[in-house]
Amino acid sequence: MNSDHKLRSVPFFNYPHVFTSQEETFISIIRGVGQRGAFIMQKDLKDFGQNLAVYVGAKYAVGVGNATDALQIGLIAGGINPGDEVIFCSHTMVATAAAIHFAGGIPVPIDAGSDHLMDPKKIEAAITSRTRAIMPTQLNGRTCKMDAIAEVAEKHGLDVYEDAAQALGSKYRQKCAGTFGKAAGISFYPAKVLGCFGDGGAVLTDDDKIYQRILALRDHGRDESGEIVMWGMNSRLDNIQAALLDYQLKDYGNVVERRRNIARQYRKRLGHLDQIVLPPGPDDDPDHFDVYQNYEIQAEARDALQSNLRDKGIGTLVQWGGKPVHQFNKLGFTKSLPYTDKLFERMLMIPMNMALSDDDVDYVCDCIIEFYRKH
Ligand SMILES: Cc1ncc(COP(=O)(O)O)c(C=O)c1O
Repeated sequence: MNSDHKLRSVPFFNYPHVFTSQEETFISIIRGVGQRGAFIMQKDLKDFGQNLAVYVGAKYAVGVGNATDALQIGLIAGGINPGDEVIFCSHTMVATAAAIHFAGGIPVPIDAGSDHLMDPKKIEAAITSRTRAIMPTQLNGRTCKMDAIAEVAEKHGLDVYEDAAQALGSKYRQKCAGTFGKAAGISFYPAKVLGCFGDGGAVLTDDDKIYQRILALRDHGRDESGEIVMWGMNSRLDNIQAALLDYQLKDYGNVVERRRNIARQYRKRLGHLDQIVLPPGPDDDPDHFDVYQNYEIQAEARDALQSNLRDKGIGTLVQWGGKPVHQFNKLGFTKSLPYTDKLFERMLMIPMNMALSDDDVDYVCDCIIEFYRKH
């Protein structure tokens, strides 16, 4: 290791930094909303929905309580019926499957591919007479190969929904995650690339009728006149959160570019190591524009690397507590998905966030290089 690199603290995610980085501005936004008494379903929420829709190129974006609700609301609004099977990739948060379950559907997990995302070649084997839809997760800030997924969906008459919780602004062939199917969910959990100061989410759709149902579903089943038109939930994005998100959305392009630069730095410094597989680089494939919600590597001796980095002050994370969804037997899953199982023995997320300096990234790289030199 470079001798001028002293032990330093590089947390996996720096939650206070999210707030303190622009504390004065955030406080003045919160004060403004408070002084107007504009807490629920006010202009800030409407403005944010419109600006978000423009940003991703969707017709509508509706702010809701979180992405899990967004996915459930999108599925119900899109017409998932009790007993409909929905195929999803097991390398995702349990929230993807929970949303399908609570929408009345049956979540059917399939294997991930070598890019950690849904493998389009593995969808057909999971299709039955009850299959109604495919819901890929746009994982780690990368959009799946949606052309291949759409082709299978079209061939079998299936709908497509997207779990785009981790992928705001990521693109496949110039089209943003969240705009490929009937509806999609986005998360604004604080650690997301666009995060709020609590829970938050949005449903995206291009369909007028689905949009009207989404509006009603998030607000007790009420239509715009206040009449109850269906069973609904209470899942409204708080106006304060919407105002904070709307402000941050203005600078989102720069935030994404910073993350892409960190990914470039990781690639430049670690690309030569045989013991690890890095995510695709930002400039590797013109079909993909990745926003690097996470930087998930595959690593030989993963657990030893993680503990060595911990000793050096570096935070890392094994996604989803180290288990893909199909391993949650208590939820009724019994499938064996060998490729995903193998991936989960090797995957590790290393720091990727806006609090990182170039020196922090270099330090992480130095420590990883040193570990494999000795290992
Ligand atoms: C892939 C994926 N789906 C769904 C969710 C659920 O999002 P939320 O916490 O906003 O409900 C998350 C959250 O991290 C996620 O990563």
